[in-house]
Amino acid sequence: MCGIVGYIGKSPAPSILISGLRRLEYRGYDSAGMAVLEDGSIIVTKSPGKVASLQEKARAEWPSERFENASTGIAHTRWATHGPPTELNAHPHLDETGAIALVHNGIIENYRPLRARLENKGHHFVSETDTEVLSHLIGESYKGDLFQAVCDALHQVEGTFGIAVISAKEPGKIITARRGSPIVIGVGDGETIVASDASAIISHTRQVIYLEDNDIAVVTANDVEIRDLDQVPVTREIAELGYDSGATEKGGFEHFMLKEIHEQPESLANAIRGRLDFNLGTSVLSGMGTSARDLSEIQRVVFLGCGTSLHAGLVGEYAFEDLADIHAEVEQAAEFRYRNPIISRSDLVVAISQSGETADTLAAVREANQKGAFVMGLCNVVGSTIARETGRGIYLHAGPEISVASTKAFTCQVVVMLMMALKMGRSRRFSREEGIKLAREIERVPELVEKTIQQSDKIAEIAARYAQCEHAFFIGRGYLYPVALEGALKLKEISYIHAEGYHAAELKHGPIALLQEGTPVIALATDIAGKDKTLGNVEECRARGARILGVITEGDKEAAEFMDDVIEVPACHPLVSTIPTAVALQILSYHIAHARGCEIDQPRNLAKSVTVE
Ligand code: AGP
Repeated sequence: MCGIVGYIGKSPAPSILISGLRRLEYRGYDSAGMAVLEDGSIIVTKSPGKVASLQEKARAEWPSERFENASTGIAHTRWATHGPPTELNAHPHLDETGAIALVHNGIIENYRPLRARLENKGHHFVSETDTEVLSHLIGESYKGDLFQAVCDALHQVEGTFGIAVISAKEPGKIITARRGSPIVIGVGDGETIVASDASAIISHTRQVIYLEDNDIAVVTANDVEIRDLDQVPVTREIAELGYDSGATEKGGFEHFMLKEIHEQPESLANAIRGRLDFNLGTSVLSGMGTSARDLSEIQRVVFLGCGTSLHAGLVGEYAFEDLADIHAEVEQAAEFRYRNPIISRSDLVVAISQSGETADTLAAVREANQKGAFVMGLCNVVGSTIARETGRGIYLHAGPEISVASTKAFTCQVVVMLMMALKMGRSRRFSREEGIKLAREIERVPELVEKTIQQSDKIAEIAARYAQCEHAFFIGRGYLYPVALEGALKLKEISYIHAEGYHAAELKHGPIALLQEGTPVIALATDIAGKDKTLGNVEECRARGARILGVITEGDKEAAEFMDDVIEVPACHPLVSTIPTAVALQILSYHIAHARGCEIDQPRNLAKSVTVE
């Protein structure tokens, strides 16, 4: 949930650490800190708030030559789990002697008994964090070999960690290790960078090493030596990053979210490219890792995910049932991992995760593997832990998604699941003609989304009318029900309006009591089965004074009659219409949040990748 970065090399570390933190800020942004090695001691500066305030503080506190000379350092941007976002609780944390500094992403679950034991031994803690216990534990274990001390300390902790450690007594090296939280090592020319993800590395090198769970590495400017926590040497391959640093910049847009919304025609084209077969009317998805024969033996499909990925799974459920005539279910990953679910070898379990690092989804994957299911991943981040642990799967090719509010990943998840359902359907009753027709519709998706994005200014005008509301309801039926949930999540995340998504029929069973004069209801009523029923529900809301914003199919005059405001999306296959409809809601949420002056890319209390339970 936090972002850690470490640098060792020939260039001045402080500015590299700060720019690394900026690129990792979407992982957590409530406080930050850094530590550098200088003349046999460790210099630390920390600050509550964004990386910018840390930079300001370091500039004010540190002599300029430190910025030029210090060549080894570690840094951290935080998403608080233990102790509020204060200067004292910010990382790095030091050991009792002040000679060892540590940054940590994850949770030390047994930190209380460890702390009590160390306090009995005379240790003094200055923060409320779980992490400070680990830095003291390393100090307590230190007998002249930092690597050994870190191994000994990590053998005593329960929980998750991605760490970087430096010692004033052993300049010229960083010790890094992971269990549950990601660590990527960038191998440069005379320099090495350690980070929570590749976005902090890409501007230095494209050569990276992904650490596996329980790996620990000694990193110097010219070498990376990896072992497991029992100090047995392990080999990890050097991978090449498939994008350039430009992909992690705003490219002239005011916010990453707006940039990523506008990137969708291209990201969707990338997600589709080479994956449709218009001759056989099917899709080519080698990542499903099985032949049509094996596919036909799958009895059930189970989608796993959290947040937006869970909503994409809900669209997948409809698509697989309708196109492939197969029993499909969606599981909230955190519930799945603890519920002891009934899973069999004829189940296809699809783990959906943009980051590929979400702790609950990762644990659910391990549970499904335990139960012998056929497990695959649907991820965006190449080389991510879920992608590596599932061992087979499909990459979205959506490009880096920086804004905390997921947009292009969602639409790419949905378009890939439509192609997966098409492939599964063709291994069953879905005919070649139907397949070709659907493949042609899927091929249109980038153009449909382009058309929807062109309405951004019109949607901004509508958004202005809803920007001051404090509550909002999104309603939809069938394929649009998950899109209503996703629309509500987007608005909640970035505008802090209390928005709820409901199946349109569900309102009567309680939520309608919340409607009063002017309450916004966003009704998804494009041309799909159930549209008329949704329009009936709109009438019920209108009768209670609600203000209705309808998302309807272009030119649908009848539906427009029911609405106070309308956003039109191009006509297309009902399943495909989930995508332009979702984009319309992304744009609406963006403009409402913008009108409210919200921090769109880094909404309060959130982080891009949830690597803790
Ligand atoms: C979506 O906008 C949120 N950032 C969040 O709900 C996210 O979808 C969820 O944390 C799952 O993330 P993942 O796809 O990286 O696993």
